[in-house]
Amino acid sequence: MPVLEIKKAGDPVLREKCQPIDTFDRKLRLLLNNMADTMYKADGVGLAAPQIGLSIAVVVIDVGEGIIEMINPKIIEREGTIEDTEGCLSVPGVYGTVERSARVVAEYQNRYGKKRTIEGTDLLARAIQHELDHLEGVLFTDKVTSFVKPEEE
Ligand code: CO
Repeated sequence: MPVLEIKKAGDPVLREKCQPIDTFDRKLRLLLNNMADTMYKADGVGLAAPQIGLSIAVVVIDVGEGIIEMINPKIIEREGTIEDTEGCLSVPGVYGTVERSARVVAEYQNRYGKKRTIEGTDLLARAIQHELDHLEGVLFTDKVTSFVKPEEE
């Protein structure tokens, strides 16, 4: 499977608001496969379509519990707040503290267009929020309260 080039901060595609998907075809499924391969190869826990140069509402996430493919995702419930360190494959070598909701529920469509709901806490909640931000053109560095110094990594 092809591994795709990951766009880095400064690329305007990372700042665009993504378009929804309305066609659930073979091309989309191939894209999802390639995004997963790209994420695993880069050792990431999530990847959003803008990060491979496509301004469409598609993300893949794997926090160690298997692949989650989310199309047209939307957070419908949030609870609590929690701070933790984040990084991003599009902002290599940079880490910082970001406050996120502690628990989220998101609605999305799977690769066949079927409606699904997911509840996430801990790293999954953080990954969902981080990846969905990408679909709005938001990077984690926009929300960092303090950057982690390299010697503390
Ligand atoms: Co990211």
